[in-house]
Amino acid sequence: MADHYFSAEPGSPDVRRTVEGRIWGRDYTFTTATGVFSRDRLDIGTAVLLREVAAPTGSGTFLDLGTGYGPIACALAVESSAEVWAVDVNNRALELTAENAKAAGVADRVHTALPDDVPADLLFDQIWSNPAIHIGKPELHKMLLRWLARLAPDGVAWFVVGKNLGGDSLQRWMTEQGYPCERVGSAKGFRVLRATNAGPAPS
Ligand SMILES: C[S@@+](CC[C@H](N)C(=O)[O-])C[C@H]1O[C@@H](n2cnc3c(N)ncnc32)[C@H](O)[C@@H]1O
Repeated sequence: MADHYFSAEPGSPDVRRTVEGRIWGRDYTFTTATGVFSRDRLDIGTAVLLREVAAPTGSGTFLDLGTGYGPIACALAVESSAEVWAVDVNNRALELTAENAKAAGVADRVHTALPDDVPADLLFDQIWSNPAIHIGKPELHKMLLRWLARLAPDGVAWFVVGKNLGGDSLQRWMTEQGYPCERVGSAKGFRVLRATNAGPAPS
């Protein structure tokens, strides 16, 4: 099988390194590895998302969909008092996220899990994602619908998507699916999107 960053078990040797990142005014040192998305630096799209959207505060249950080595999940847990679910299909990514959460002092509130291992009754007050566009549109849509269905009634979902990777059409598609979606930022070729629950249709 080809070794993508979204492989369940990357075939490449697990060669580790560290990357520095500044998120919401705090400096982080993250451990990354071969076989994991953006192992050489904090991804530009991720950096745009975290710069364009204010840090969340308060409590709740958050989801970082496609956590990679966990920069979003760790920063969400540091800034808020929420329980953060860090979900990925790549086991190496989940291991790194757990290590990075420990290093950031938030291991008790960052829960790493494969998609099928997230408790079925959890609803999310916030979903944050730099989604894996490269899995292809049918898989991407399936993944987004799976997790948007678990957005709390007054929940909010934040996404960053490359403009030339279909950011604008994804915004329209989410709105058509019943998750009104607006563009809240645009920088360095990325769109930052905010989707909410339309709620039940009026009777
Ligand atoms: C663009 S990367 C973002 C990684 C990380 N959040 C960051 O900002 O550096 C997307 C991640 O989604 C993961 N992924 C791919 N398919 C997935 C799926 N069906 N469910 C959850 N995560 C998935 C990939 O393994 C990858 O780590």
